[in-house]
Amino acid sequence: MAKKIILDCDPGHDDAIALILAYGNPDIDLLAVTTVGGNAVLEKTTKNAMGVMTMAGILDVPFAPGCSRPLWREGEDADVHGESGLDGVVLPPSQVTPDGRHGVDLIIDTIMSNEPKSVTLVPTGPLTNIAMAMRKEPRIIELVKEVVLMGGGIHVGNWSAVAEFNIKIDPEAAAIVFDAPWEVTMVGLDVTHQALATDEVSARIKALNTPLAEFVLGLFTFFQKAYHDEQGFEFPPVHDPVAVARVIDPSIVGTVRAPINVELTGTHTLGMTVTELRPAHIPADCHTQAATSLDAERFWDLVIDAIDRLGKRDAQ
Ligand code: BDR
Ligand code: CA
Repeated sequence: MAKKIILDCDPGHDDAIALILAYGNPDIDLLAVTTVGGNAVLEKTTKNAMGVMTMAGILDVPFAPGCSRPLWREGEDADVHGESGLDGVVLPPSQVTPDGRHGVDLIIDTIMSNEPKSVTLVPTGPLTNIAMAMRKEPRIIELVKEVVLMGGGIHVGNWSAVAEFNIKIDPEAAAIVFDAPWEVTMVGLDVTHQALATDEVSARIKALNTPLAEFVLGLFTFFQKAYHDEQGFEFPPVHDPVAVARVIDPSIVGTVRAPINVELTGTHTLGMTVTELRPAHIPADCHTQAATSLDAERFWDLVIDAIDRLGKRDAQ
């Protein structure tokens, strides 16, 4: 049976690939897509999501924009996605009709109207919408199957020496999500920095020879230059679809069970996901896991297969 997910995103080049993987993989049933202010302001992440969904033919999935800013702090744009939040491609005019509900309500209603423990939340932006949904309808905490999020890291930061962007932008929301008694898997920078869009990956996508493949290459070309200029990477890490891949096939992303606390008061460590790896301090009922390894080859096989499927569908 396909795994039901809600994708809460802030496109964002890698969020766009997460959308394509989630819809293009036959083992995933994409129940809803919501957007949040993150990589760019909400208006832009929403426009980008609708453009990517149109480009990829994702037209039958309920869609709604959610929160425009973090719970308490000011938002900040990520520097690697350009002015639009999705520079490097021209988006088609949107054919997506927003659902009409607020994103937070779409998340709640979708969970409440499905079987208990059947829906996985996959947030790939700041965790504002998820925290708001938990506060508005706390029953979702026991109804959700699990949360598999892209964010944080055990040993790595990118928005500070020790904090990752999605967590640091709204650390209070992240703390709410990590602290609740549901299953949370943190797919962080330790593994997503291995999901590199190398020349070989791009060549395989080019060979698909579809408009969607060209679109993805446009995304990668911009992302490569931005990641090179901003963070010194040779090839860009395509973070967000790694969380989707973990849901599709858990064996692709290895994890360790460990308590994870989000730093909210540190002078130099705000937004750090402090991961307790000392065996004696890991309780038997620990509800959080941190990703530690990635099978990058199988990850890219999944992504390229999804681009291929949706690209061919486009052409029909
Ligand atoms: C995360 O931050 C965003 O820029 C990306 O879309 C990804 O979700 C990586 O730190
Ligand atoms: Ca993102």
